[in-house]
Amino acid sequence: MAQKFRKIGVLTSGGDAPGMNAALRSVTLAALSRGVEVVGVMKGYTGLISGELVDLTPDKVANITVNSGTVLYSDRCLEFATEEGMAKAVETCRKNNIDGIVAIGGDGTFRGATDLTRHGVPCIGIPATIDNDITSTDYTLGFDTAMNTVMDMADNLKDTHESHARCAVIEVMGRDAGYIALEAGIAVGAVAIAIPELPFDADAAIARIKAKRAAGARGFIVLVSEGLGGAFGEELTKRIEAETGVESRFARLAHIVRGGKPTLRDRFTAARMGDAAVDALLDGKSNLVICEKDGKIISRDIEYALVLDRMYKKKLKDGDLDKFSAEDVENMKKECEITLDAIKDLYAIANELA
Ligand code: F6P
Repeated sequence: MAQKFRKIGVLTSGGDAPGMNAALRSVTLAALSRGVEVVGVMKGYTGLISGELVDLTPDKVANITVNSGTVLYSDRCLEFATEEGMAKAVETCRKNNIDGIVAIGGDGTFRGATDLTRHGVPCIGIPATIDNDITSTDYTLGFDTAMNTVMDMADNLKDTHESHARCAVIEVMGRDAGYIALEAGIAVGAVAIAIPELPFDADAAIARIKAKRAAGARGFIVLVSEGLGGAFGEELTKRIEAETGVESRFARLAHIVRGGKPTLRDRFTAARMGDAAVDALLDGKSNLVICEKDGKIISRDIEYALVLDRMYKKKLKDGDLDKFSAEDVENMKKECEITLDAIKDLYAIANELA
């Protein structure tokens, strides 16, 4: 263990995700078991700026894994992106002898972590967002719970829509990513799934509903990602009703998908990631994000992860690739292709089973 680590901080930031509390517990217990004190930073980077800290002890993190949300609360902090905000955050760390930070959240959280590292406070990130939209990792905390919630809600809608011979068009969160709609849609046997990553064939979906209705089917489920835009799901609902004659209802699940009891997958992965984050920090490493790749927990450079993510999302900024070798850039391109190919494969399965 690098000698200088006597106390670390842990924070949750950005949209909350089921499993954040389990990660918090893991970080706390892993650090305490190595003789390192832990403080929780309230309200994400906002609390780091204002110095809102709470000592974390085993009893403070006992029994928190069963709930979603985050006991440290969360925030999307704009002040942290300013020099003044950053200076105050660094000062909080200095005054309170915080030697390093574990930051739990999504890409905005990692941008904050990498800035903080640059200002002399070592940081390690843990990916937590229901969207599963961080390209460097196969899994982000909260995704499984969110999908299970969508599955339960869709099952409930299926019950009533079967009775009334209706079609439910369900819009789910995911920001610009369609993972929640795609995987939950396959699980509930959706007749059609629309996601931002791939073109949606509305005519084929309508023809499928008509054919199934003609063959005697009564209830239908269609899953739609919010990333397709505010009106997409509502428009599709009207179109299905008009062109198939099947009475249709639109349901936006919105934030309900962020709550609920975290699944085993989320709690277990949070435990592994929290432990790995503390290991990395106390080994003297920083500016890393903990990732799950092919079932293994690994760590990757945050800046590499952020640029890879922007490449995948086609949001590269000028100069983003300059500090990476030609080989790195090639590998990033390959990883983007693999990520999209995996979605195409799943989408093909979804259509086959629709
Ligand atoms: O990133 C998580 C997420 O729940 C997205 O799926 C969604 O688009 C967004 O956050 C909603 O943000 P807010 O909670 O600020 O409305």
